[in-house]
Amino acid sequence: MKTLVLNKPLASVETPLLAVLVAQGSVPKIEENLQRAIASGDYKGKKDETLLVYGSGKAERVLLVGVGKVSEITRTSIRRAAAIAAKRARSLGTKTLALAIAKEARGSLGAAELAQVAIEGAAQGGWQFTELKKQPEDPKPELESVELIVDAGDKDEAEAGRRIGDAIAAGYLLTRNLQMQPGNVCTPRYLAEQAKKLAEQHQFGVTILDLAQIKKEGMGALLAVAQGSAEEPRFIVLEYSGGTGAPIALIGKGVTFDSGGISIKPALNMEDMKFDKSGATAVLGTFEVLGRLKPKINVVGLIPATENLPSGTAIKPGDVVKSHLGKTIEIINTDAEGRLILCDALSYARRFKPAAAIDAATLTGAVVIALGHHAIGMLGNDEVLLAEVRDAGERAGERCWPLPLWDDYRELLKSDVADIKNSGGRAAGTIAGAWFLREFVDSFPWVHLDIAGTAYLEGEGVSHAKGPTAIGVRLFTEFLLKRAGA
Ligand code: BES
Ligand code: MN
Ligand code: ZN
Repeated sequence: MKTLVLNKPLASVETPLLAVLVAQGSVPKIEENLQRAIASGDYKGKKDETLLVYGSGKAERVLLVGVGKVSEITRTSIRRAAAIAAKRARSLGTKTLALAIAKEARGSLGAAELAQVAIEGAAQGGWQFTELKKQPEDPKPELESVELIVDAGDKDEAEAGRRIGDAIAAGYLLTRNLQMQPGNVCTPRYLAEQAKKLAEQHQFGVTILDLAQIKKEGMGALLAVAQGSAEEPRFIVLEYSGGTGAPIALIGKGVTFDSGGISIKPALNMEDMKFDKSGATAVLGTFEVLGRLKPKINVVGLIPATENLPSGTAIKPGDVVKSHLGKTIEIINTDAEGRLILCDALSYARRFKPAAAIDAATLTGAVVIALGHHAIGMLGNDEVLLAEVRDAGERAGERCWPLPLWDDYRELLKSDVADIKNSGGRAAGTIAGAWFLREFVDSFPWVHLDIAGTAYLEGEGVSHAKGPTAIGVRLFTEFLLKRAGA
């Protein structure tokens, strides 16, 4: 998707579709054919409210998209309305979309952030995945370009915002397309190939540990999960050096398919467990953004990648394994595999002496019970970092909600035979998962993001398609750009 910023009077924009974001109660009189609808009061510009008119001006069609009340306009409202516009462009089959934001609909947002989030939204709404269909029903062209129409005085700022939005859009696309790949395509080896490709494109450092090297490294917990599968695991390390000082470590759970293992999951919706690699794909998408924006910061990406399958060689409940850190783990439930692979990644992260580590993982069904599909469960060992991550999530429209990591919960994971067990049962499932990880975090600030409820959506919404959300890409990017002082 190409993006550009233009300064033109709306009436002179030649386009198959001109979308104008408008605020409730102050819909501008943009286009002759719109006048009557607006005057009649039929169209009010409420949140998500749209009106499509076949134009009398240069634009073939004009689409009004409501962002709601002026006092309630946030980055999220603009992103969402832009997504609705792009989704409509997609369903109409127009290859380009011109996008303008009426004065009142800008709230108190600056020109740069308006441009950024508008592009982010357009990328979100314009996405579709047809690459595995031989005969897509009702095939529609890709949305090839988005033109942002801005005031002359806003052009430079808008261009700066567009550049960020454009990079995020690219990361976003990479992540969603990877998330969507089925388990038989996207194996641990495939994820590693993608990381290598990214590294070549953007000159990142890349290290891929194969089975033998993972053994040599002593990652016993990752190996334990992988031992039930015919596909070999991989441990992926990406390094972006754009600045000076200690790096930020981004760690992503890369379970390319989670059957549960011997503690097998029910069949219903098990196919969705191809999305259990969503933390890993968010890290990869973030590296795409880094490669494009080149902020002044150092970042390492760590991805433990494996399948979780039952077989004659699979781990069994009751087995005890030794982790990379040295602590022993009693496996109570083979379906609590995410924490097993992540604990070895957290331990491996020590060698980078990171300034901070953030992991993203589809770790627990319990976070869906606690927060539904609207917030990431957030836990960590450092209040300052927690606040920083939460702010980044706010700016990104990927909201995080804190859960406590009080000492009392540690007892859930006491094992009779080993240093720790990998499941504490049903109570406080998300907290227990995070406590497990915390036991492997040694001497750096760390935040865990449980994205099980937000990584993919089970149905279509007004502003998003069914399926993968690329959650994490925007949050990570916001976090890193702020840290880089950009
Ligand atoms: N990948 C799942 C978590 C999950 C659930 C992701 C729903 C997306 C949607 C994870 O590996 C898992 O199975 N967790 C268990 C942990 C339990 C056995 C302690 C769970 O949540 O049931
Ligand atoms: Mn599992
Ligand atoms: Zn899992």
